[in-house]
Amino acid sequence: MEIITPELKDELLKKIEKKYGFDFSNYSEASIIRRITRFYEMYKFDNTKELTERLTTDGKLFELFVTEITVNVTQFFREPEFYKSLITKVFPVLSTYPFIKIWCAGCSTGQEVYSLAILLNEAGLTERVKIYATDLNTLVIKKAKDGIYSKSEFEEGDSGYKDSGGKNEFKKYFTESNSQFQIKDELKKNLVFAQHNLVNDSSFNEFNFIMCRNVLIYFNLKLQDHVLKLFDNSMRNLGYLGLGSKESLSLSKIAYKYEVIDRQEKIYRKIH
Ligand SMILES: C[S@@+](CC[C@H](N)C(=O)[O-])C[C@H]1O[C@@H](n2cnc3c(N)ncnc32)[C@H](O)[C@@H]1O
Repeated sequence: MEIITPELKDELLKKIEKKYGFDFSNYSEASIIRRITRFYEMYKFDNTKELTERLTTDGKLFELFVTEITVNVTQFFREPEFYKSLITKVFPVLSTYPFIKIWCAGCSTGQEVYSLAILLNEAGLTERVKIYATDLNTLVIKKAKDGIYSKSEFEEGDSGYKDSGGKNEFKKYFTESNSQFQIKDELKKNLVFAQHNLVNDSSFNEFNFIMCRNVLIYFNLKLQDHVLKLFDNSMRNLGYLGLGSKESLSLSKIAYKYEVIDRQEKIYRKIH
């Protein structure tokens, strides 16, 4: 098999951008080369010419490619301390607003969005909230919309729910059948799932809270800065921003506009 060099990677990504408008050129280089290589091996292409040709002519294969080169790992109540901090430091302020708009960007298969929706429900805020959940990958958005999870995905969430400060039984939010756990409709009513690409799609609303966790780590600094600017343009004054534990606002150009609400959990508030 041909080695995927940075030059081959750039060439392939340029053709993909031309065909589909998806620009992966500012994703972390080592990680994207590793993932293209894995895809190449998985589908046993003869050479990179064939790989490029198939990817630019077969839209279904391209969807699978997107899933392979982006990391979709997620879980309910991932890092419970983050959610605990939302309950104690963010929800009390949001609860003073008549209407609360939230953007969950890079939501993957939806566990993060439903975790948030559950806690907002327990805080008595459901009726006032609208959550826009977006991802670039149409396959994960479909699973998120369906809201159907395996037993192991459910069980992973059960302990996280309690550690996050959940007040009820986690299973109260699901209907179970044949070891599949489906999110109840009442939790879905204020959610909108849509495809949105953080690289080149624009701002589409103004939010009181933007949550984007474990997405920026896969981008280079230039793209991280671009995305943080997009969030800033989409943020109401005094709105909150929640990032992943390995991500930070501190080196970005918009850092001066935000105060730190929880340093450990990467929660910030726009003050300028
Ligand atoms: C590791 S998952 C994080 C999921 C969830 N936020 C969490 O923390 O559990 C990263 C997600 O970012 C999405 N993503 C990657 N590039 C993106 C882009 N340019 N625009 C929108 N979403 C993107 C991927 O499709 C994937 O679902």
